[in-house]
Amino acid sequence: MRKVIIAGNWKMYKTQSEASEFLMEFISQIDDAPENREVVLCVPFTDLTIVNKSLHGNRIRLGAQNVHWEDCGAYTGEISASMLTEMGVRYVIIGHSERRQYFGETDETVNLRLKAAQSSGLIPILCVGETKLQRDAGETEQKIALQLERDLLGIDQTRLVIAYEPIWAIGTGETCEVNEANRVIGLIRDRLTDSSVTILYGGSVKPSNINEIMAQPQIDGVLVGGASLAAGDFAGIVNYK
Ligand code: PGA
Repeated sequence: MRKVIIAGNWKMYKTQSEASEFLMEFISQIDDAPENREVVLCVPFTDLTIVNKSLHGNRIRLGAQNVHWEDCGAYTGEISASMLTEMGVRYVIIGHSERRQYFGETDETVNLRLKAAQSSGLIPILCVGETKLQRDAGETEQKIALQLERDLLGIDQTRLVIAYEPIWAIGTGETCEVNEANRVIGLIRDRLTDSSVTILYGGSVKPSNINEIMAQPQIDGVLVGGASLAAGDFAGIVNYK
C-alpha cells in the first residue's frame, strides 16, 4: 500500500508567533481526518522547535526544506541532517525548483543532499518538474527522466518520496490538468525500481481542486505551498473527500 502524504511547504513564511497561531487554528480542524493520511509541515528552520512542540500526538510530522551533505563544517548558512533529526524532523524537501532556480542547486548537489538525508534516517521529498518552455517544446518526459536518473543515483527508493511539481504551476494559480499530472506521475513511477514509492503532485493545490487531484490513481498526495499558509485552507486539503 502506498502511503498518502499531505505536505505543506511554508517556504520563507511565518515567524514563530505566526506558526503558533497557525497551529492553534489548524490542529482542531484535522482531528477527523483518516489516520492513514500523513500530514507533514515543512517549515523554516526557525519554526522547527515550535512546530515540534505541537505535533498533536503524532498527527503531524515535522519537515524541513533543505539539508547539507556534510555532517558539519565551514558551510555558512547551511544545515546538517543531524541538526534536523535532533529537532524531531522526519522529512526534508530536496531539489525544490526554487532552490534549483535561485540558489544554484544542481542534480549533483541534489543527489548529495538525498544521500545525506537518507543516511541520517530522514525521508527526502525529492522535487522534479519541467519549465513552461520545456513543456511547450515537448521536452517534459525527457527533462524528468534526466532529473530522476541523476538525482536518484545510489539512492534507496524504499525510503523516498517524490513530488512532481511542474514549475509553471507553482504559485501561479495554474494547476496542471489532473489527467496530465496523473500521466506524468505514472511515467515517473515506471522509471523507478520500487513502484511503491509515494509520489505527490505539487503546484497550485487548493481546497477547490484537491478532491479531483486525489481521485487520480497514480497520485498519492500533494505538496502544497501557498494554500498551506492558511490553517483553514490547509485543513480543507487534509480533509479531502
Ligand atoms: P504552490 O507551491 O502550492 O504555492 O503552487 C507548491 C510548491 O512550491 O511546493
